[in-house]
Amino acid sequence: MTDDPGREPYAEGKVPRHVAIIMDGNGRWARRRGLPRHAGHRQGMKAVREAVEGARLAGVEILTLFAFSTENWQRPAIEVSALMSLLKHYAEQEQKELRAKGVEVRVLGELDRIDGAARAAVDRIVQATAGGQHLRLNLMISYGGREELLRAFRDIAEKLAEGVLKLEDVNEECVESHLFTSGLPDPDLLIRTSGELRLSNFMLWQLAYTEIHTTAVLWPDFTRDDFAGAVREYQRRDRRFGRVNAG
Ligand code: IPE
Ligand code: IPE
Ligand code: MG
Repeated sequence: MTDDPGREPYAEGKVPRHVAIIMDGNGRWARRRGLPRHAGHRQGMKAVREAVEGARLAGVEILTLFAFSTENWQRPAIEVSALMSLLKHYAEQEQKELRAKGVEVRVLGELDRIDGAARAAVDRIVQATAGGQHLRLNLMISYGGREELLRAFRDIAEKLAEGVLKLEDVNEECVESHLFTSGLPDPDLLIRTSGELRLSNFMLWQLAYTEIHTTAVLWPDFTRDDFAGAVREYQRRDRRFGRVNAG
């Protein structure tokens, strides 16, 4: 696929431009070791590094990671605060390296709900990595697919009422441009770890024609090789988008 010797050898075929991951299984990873759930989340940060590296090596343009859902706010307060402090920690610790690697970080979701310290750290990493050319990394935090659509519909309704938009302007492009992911192509590949077979309210609009790869690997054990394996499997898929193949 590429002549860069540092890269994983991929079969001839398209590398997915946009890969999204539902990072799942931290709690089970910890429980199997008799550790508290937050230990699984901490270990999960290593897997985030692996995924970023895997994406870079494959030549993926956009990596979108589901880190915290709207529904996750309903977890015990102690777990929520452990996750928020890990987010802060990640943003502080990774900033330099991500910037050096040309990774542009964006954080998408209902960010007003994130506490002050984590929010400030997130704003700093976004600023510090702005303009990175090699990989766009979307961290989906306090994100829910239905909430994202509702926000879009409300914005559009407001613009209709104000006369800024006309009914005939409301098409797929219009809805797309009101999502957090405005301007980005839809994910080509969705990976979900830990063997669960559901979307859990993730990117409901954007995943309409995404290829899905599930693996039993728990998120803290996920490596760049697992990422490469998912990409290789993707390359064998036949994407038809509802049509029939010429050959
Ligand atoms: C994924 O791991 C991380 C988040 C959802 C924040 P989980 O915490 O869901 O781990 P399991 O599914 O309980 O094993
Ligand atoms: C989905 O995982 C959310 C994230 C990975 C951030 P969950 O563990 O919250 O999803 P369910 O509860 O198994 O559907
Ligand atoms: Mg889970």
